[in-house]
Amino acid sequence: MSTPGDAAAVAAAVRVLANGGLVALPTETVYGLAADADNQAAVQAIFAAKARPADHPLIVHVRDAAALDAWARDVPDAARTLAARYWPGPLTLVLQRSARAHDGLTGGQDTVGLRCPAHPWARSVLAGWTAADPSRALAAPSANSFGRISPSQAAHVRADLGEKPSGKVDLILDGGPCPVGIESTIVDLSNGSPRLLRPGAITREQLQATFGAAVPDAGGDAPRASGRLDSHYAPRTPLELVDEGALPARINALRGERLAVLAPARALLDRGAQVVARAIAPADPAGYARRLYALLHELDAAGATRILVARPPQGDDWDAVHDRLNRAATPASGGEPL
Ligand code: TXA
Ligand code: MG
Repeated sequence: MSTPGDAAAVAAAVRVLANGGLVALPTETVYGLAADADNQAAVQAIFAAKARPADHPLIVHVRDAAALDAWARDVPDAARTLAARYWPGPLTLVLQRSARAHDGLTGGQDTVGLRCPAHPWARSVLAGWTAADPSRALAAPSANSFGRISPSQAAHVRADLGEKPSGKVDLILDGGPCPVGIESTIVDLSNGSPRLLRPGAITREQLQATFGAAVPDAGGDAPRASGRLDSHYAPRTPLELVDEGALPARINALRGERLAVLAPARALLDRGAQVVARAIAPADPAGYARRLYALLHELDAAGATRILVARPPQGDDWDAVHDRLNRAATPASGGEPL
């Protein structure tokens, strides 16, 4: 693992990006698959590498809030308030796009998603990338094949997309495990008033405290977000959510299966012989989010016929974890775009 101050690695990443290549880049949420946002062929290469449908918009990563007006137009005050409060950080703003935000980025929609990441590696690469032009940006979805578990470690990217020549990514930067671990909170401001498109580490209560007003969920007319497919972030092994109290009975009922179980330590003490892998669920929401994808990757690789996950506690600060677990629990064929 090199360090974000590693000027040679940053320069190499900027060179790859300038040549229209793809760089897997650690952000504080998950690893992103980055390309020059202005380069339509490079943006197309992101879709090809991920096998992602072309109508799913990408997030444009900017150096700071000064770039808002390069990529968006009619930016409402509420967006500037959120950017001032939470950028750099795990928050994406969906805004009316400017002409620069081309169809390849937005999936043909008239909105664009903008985020300013906080991770030291992402910041170093963005600083190098924008040295000559502060409005330059990087398009970057999560660095995973479409529909699979998002990568919170460089090893996840290596195992899924891989580095060239055998893989699909020109350069994978290893910044260690991502500190937040799940994707950014997405707030839709394209109609002026904030609506929550995807829960994340910045919670609804934090957003509401910032505005002193309710931030409702986006309704059915909201812009498309692939994170809002019913099935997303899914392991290959079927995943079932079970109330903690019902776990022993469920394990019993699944005699003959090979089970991988994610639950609090107390619920893992008395496990059946068919439990072939188990992981202790972190007790706090930030710790759970940080470890979630790595644990799902591990349990998915355990050769189990089913993954059982004890439902975590309820509450505003657990919403993002529930959101990801609920999507992971839905069979891949069941997903429909909202
Ligand atoms: O934390 C994150 O947001 C990570 C890191 C790499 O920044 N990125 C990420 O990208 O999660 P991706 O593409 O896996 O998910 C981005 C979400 C998708 O659900 C996408 O559809 C949505 O953002 N999105 C992007 N632009 C949008 C737009 N104009 N309107 C609605 N949703 C949009
Ligand atoms: Mg993703």
